[in-house]
Amino acid sequence: MSIHIGAKPGDIAETVLLPGDPRRAKWAAETFLQDARLVNEVRGMLGYTGTWNGHPVTIHGSGMGMPSLSIYVNELIRDYDAKTLIRIGSCGAMQKSVKLRDVVLAMTASTMSTPSRGIFRELSYAPVADWSLLRAAAAAAESRDIATHVGGIYSSDVFYDERPDLNDQMMRHGILAVEMEAAELYTLAARYGRRALAVLTVSDHLVTEEALPSEDRERSFGDMVEIALTAAFA
Ligand code: HPA
Repeated sequence: MSIHIGAKPGDIAETVLLPGDPRRAKWAAETFLQDARLVNEVRGMLGYTGTWNGHPVTIHGSGMGMPSLSIYVNELIRDYDAKTLIRIGSCGAMQKSVKLRDVVLAMTASTMSTPSRGIFRELSYAPVADWSLLRAAAAAAESRDIATHVGGIYSSDVFYDERPDLNDQMMRHGILAVEMEAAELYTLAARYGRRALAVLTVSDHLVTEEALPSEDRERSFGDMVEIALTAAFA
């Protein structure tokens, strides 16, 4: 047991998928894993471990935002020795060429700040995805005929954003989408020598102001789980 994860030693697999929403962890585990069993429910943050094509896999909620994800990822790595950590989540598109339901694979994640910001002082650290996961996820998405974009995203500390001027600069500099977790995931994975990737689907659009209806979100979410699992064991 760690402070925020009630799982016993050995209950967490080396490969962990991290949706923000704990109920999505339950849905994904029940839908895609064999013999999935609940391994954590501390604070309602559900985690399940089972197997996929014979490989042990844990699917564990991260919560929303980098401070929450940082707690779970620190403990998954330091207390349970997780080696491959893949965020599966939604994002808001920041380019016209990126459409609702498209998949975005985050090659880099720009930020104003992360929970790790303090240790870098004046350094503007560039959080980056693991190349082997990124390459395998791109191949998995393409083989499923899913429109996929690979590039830089923005990990924000706020959903209700008050800086349209900053969004304009990011759009101008090719940032594909905004979400709230990837930069800290990549930073922690780098610190501990683990592999990390964020696989995202576009749930809303900052340029066109469209948003996905909730039933579509579930189908897109299933695609992401399959891409993440295929990439993890490629
Ligand atoms: N902003 C921040 N995070 C998000 C968004 C957004 O528009 N959409 C999905 N995650």
